[in-house]
Amino acid sequence: MIGVFDSGLGGLTVLAALRRAMPQQDFLYLGDNANAPYGVRTSADVTALTKSAIERLFAEGCGLVLIACNTASALALRTLQQEWLPTVAPDRRLLGVFVPLIEALTGRGWQDQPGAAPLQKAAFFATPATVKSGTFTAEAQRLAPDLTVIEQDCPGLVDAIETGNPVDGIVNRAVATALKGGKPDVALLGCTHYPHAETAFREALPAGTSIMSQPQVVAESLASYLERHPQFRGGTGWLDCLTTGDPAHVSARAEALFQRALPFDAA
Ligand code: DGL
Repeated sequence: MIGVFDSGLGGLTVLAALRRAMPQQDFLYLGDNANAPYGVRTSADVTALTKSAIERLFAEGCGLVLIACNTASALALRTLQQEWLPTVAPDRRLLGVFVPLIEALTGRGWQDQPGAAPLQKAAFFATPATVKSGTFTAEAQRLAPDLTVIEQDCPGLVDAIETGNPVDGIVNRAVATALKGGKPDVALLGCTHYPHAETAFREALPAGTSIMSQPQVVAESLASYLERHPQFRGGTGWLDCLTTGDPAHVSARAEALFQRALPFDAA
């Protein structure tokens, strides 16, 4: 069983892509709705919350946990992978969502499409905490030192998506600010909630800027990881969703966002 962790409901966009790519795989989803949003929290806070969520998923029997949350991937993943996991659970694995995105991004042009011009500029839209950490740019430039990354926060966008409020004004402002740094070749929606605002991003971005789908990229990367690490594979397509918040309220919000029943149990 594979654990999928997010600060709240946003990670369901990733979970849906995972289940499409791996219909026979069992997944246990945990949303830390009681403590969301993470995007305005400190690094220490996000690390402590992420650690307890992972402990919970390990206790349920997950051998591998995917941290679907970009904010937790930016602020907590490295510390937990390097300083915590080897001492508490050396045979379990923690994966984040930046490496797949960066591999897909930097692979474009000189690996996947030989002869095509390498990407020069990427716009990375994310929560304030993710942008403040600078982790995405640092990790991307390790693989592609010539790549320019414009990191742009979108304050209030997660709340607007969660509550069903209009997103266009927030997205238009964020894109207009990012475009002051020049026209990007590709835009990355670096927050699990943002696929719900993809239409607004598409309308605000220049026609020549493509949008990379993070859920799709992460699903392909995990499927390939499981080919190489079959010990974490298995199941019949079973799924359970847990929340640290109020299950009735979270289930109703999930249903409103995804237009189908997605019942949550108490974590
Ligand atoms: N899930 C978080 C992410 O992907 C955003 C939501 C939050 O701020 O908690 O960055």
